[in-house]
Amino acid sequence: MKEIIKIENLSKFFELHNLGKYIKACQNISFTLHEGEFIGITGKSGSGKSTILKCIYRTYLPKGGCIWYRSKLYGVINLAKASDRQIIHLRKKEIGYVSQFLNVMPRTTAREIVQKAVLDIGYDIDYAKEEAENMLSHFELDQELWDTYPNTFSGGEKLRLNIASAMVKKPRLLLLDEPTASLDNESKKLVKVLLEKLKAKGTSMIGIFHDLEFMEGVCDREFNMKTGNFTV
Ligand SMILES: Nc1ncnc2c1ncn2[C@@H]1O[C@H](COP(=O)(O)OP(=O)(O)O)[C@@H](O)[C@H]1O
Ligand SMILES: [Mg+2]
Repeated sequence: MKEIIKIENLSKFFELHNLGKYIKACQNISFTLHEGEFIGITGKSGSGKSTILKCIYRTYLPKGGCIWYRSKLYGVINLAKASDRQIIHLRKKEIGYVSQFLNVMPRTTAREIVQKAVLDIGYDIDYAKEEAENMLSHFELDQELWDTYPNTFSGGEKLRLNIASAMVKKPRLLLLDEPTASLDNESKKLVKVLLEKLKAKGTSMIGIFHDLEFMEGVCDREFNMKTGNFTV
């Protein structure tokens, strides 16, 4: 099986100068994600799980180690060293990230948000319209809300929209940081169905889930922060 991500000795720390503190967020993390595979990361809170995903998505600039990503745009590229411009392109076209927090774009309707995600990859407007409607229907977002601004949505509605706009892109690599943390069971099931669909279409994924039962139902392997290895 081909590797899509190979992390070698990834480390990230924070220096809080005003407090004279030095925080190790994650240290010497190494693992490989194969194409089409879904890895779950487990470990106690504060162990550095989110930091790993943020380093891959480059929300955080890693301090040490390499994140080799086999991209479509640039071939094999070290995400720890890639330029900001390259990262912007990869985020638009190849790498998706979902967390439980939503940044809503001002004066953009739910429908426009999902459509824009599809347009960003390079599809035409007709396809984007169709895919956006399919996705909003799938997540059972009330049709009356499609053309309204999400700032007034409930937490659960915002979250479903968030997940919808990441998944509608069918990214090559999808990073999931506790996306289902505040969802009801019904919505969790909708997320699970889509994760399975994406996986069947070849999306590779790394996820963090507080609900271990949910995780075990979707992931192929589990990377444990405590041991720094896979649990079998
Ligand atoms: N931006 C940041 N500034 C300072 N410390 C941070 C920052 N991000 C994470 N940390 C610290 O790094 C450690 C790991 O955090 P995190 O990756 O969020 O853990 P997890 O997701 O496993 O709960 C924690 O001690 C956290 O406080
Ligand atoms: Mg976290």
